[in-house]
Amino acid sequence: MDTQTIIQLEEGTMVNVYFRYPAAIVKGSGAILWDAEGRRYIDLMGGYGVAIVGHSHPKVVEALREQIGRLTICHPSLYNDVRASLLEKLVTIAPKGLNKVYLGSSGAEAVEVAIKMAKKNTGRSKLVSTMGGFHGKTLGALSVTWNPKYREPFKDFLIRNVEFVPYGNLEKAEATIDENTMAFIVEPIQGENGVKIPPDDYLKGLRDICDRRGSLLIIDEIQTGLGRTGAMWACQHWNVKPDIICIGKGLAGGVPMGAVLAREDVGDSLKLGEHTSTFGGNPLACAAASAVIDVIVGEKLPERAKRLGEVFKRELEKLKQAHSSVREVRGLGLMRAAELRFDIKDVIVKSLENGLITLYSGRNILRFLPPLVIEEGHILEASKILDNVLSTFS
Ligand SMILES: Cc1ncc(COP(=O)(O)O)c(C=O)c1O
Repeated sequence: MDTQTIIQLEEGTMVNVYFRYPAAIVKGSGAILWDAEGRRYIDLMGGYGVAIVGHSHPKVVEALREQIGRLTICHPSLYNDVRASLLEKLVTIAPKGLNKVYLGSSGAEAVEVAIKMAKKNTGRSKLVSTMGGFHGKTLGALSVTWNPKYREPFKDFLIRNVEFVPYGNLEKAEATIDENTMAFIVEPIQGENGVKIPPDDYLKGLRDICDRRGSLLIIDEIQTGLGRTGAMWACQHWNVKPDIICIGKGLAGGVPMGAVLAREDVGDSLKLGEHTSTFGGNPLACAAASAVIDVIVGEKLPERAKRLGEVFKRELEKLKQAHSSVREVRGLGLMRAAELRFDIKDVIVKSLENGLITLYSGRNILRFLPPLVIEEGHILEASKILDNVLSTFS
């Protein structure tokens, strides 16, 4: 099928909820994608941060091939070998003490489960989240997601007792987290909101406030986790241990999977039937996730993200020096952003025409979530393309 046919078929039938790029991707390897006409792209979108170990990593492909020929579904009411093995690996890479795991099928589901755990564990009814925070779009997750554009059409259906406080502001958190607060939910670095890094004392301060009020600290590592920022978990940069971590995105290398890691008593507060999912912990996703964890640990991808993140940072700083249209560059590891002084839509399209796929965060922020296996040469090539594209706007 050629690009035009693919686009026409999708446009005619798919519910129109995504901002679409005029490209039809049919193949990927590492940090490179190819479209239906065989054109090559450097992938700085990484499937919205999913392609942590790169596209079609041989170890993940092999694990999936092996598993699909053996067993693809085994409901969690039955025990399963690959699920058992994944659970063991997840607990090994989790921060110490988070040794209860729920396996689901998306990031938003992980957030739903985290909220239910907090409710059951504390018996309280108020949630506190952050302005600019993004935690997914199912109704529970949407209730703690800030953007009014996503919330307004459904506001009648959202959890009522949620308060939002400015991200990075401990005073406001202190004033809002009270004896009725079940949990504070926060991204260690805000992703959707444009890669915003909080002040150094922020997460530690939140931990302290939550401890004093008896509230739980839920850290949403769906975008930042699994090595993305140069550590296995972003909260480790600030030495903070949450009560619950939400994970998703690249956990199963592109096979849908989300998970919750919780303190034992917190995980145990959900009782029989209080949250289940037909696809939760299915062997296919578990086999992929198991291979992904082996790759992240075996290929030292957090360290690689740290090292290549510095290369990327240097390149973005150069772009800022060269183009007055770049207001600010920021990020950690291979989670980066460039904030421009104008709408980035044309920059995205022009980059695409030049073989580079980028991601947006709102109107004027370019976001970069490349596979952690990206090569230094790709980062330099991508920066050159961005340099050329930005030149046409000055
Ligand atoms: C921090 C964060 N939380 C939650 C989600 C929701 O995940 P999903 O799209 O898998 O439901 C996302 C997705 O972008 C995210 O970045």
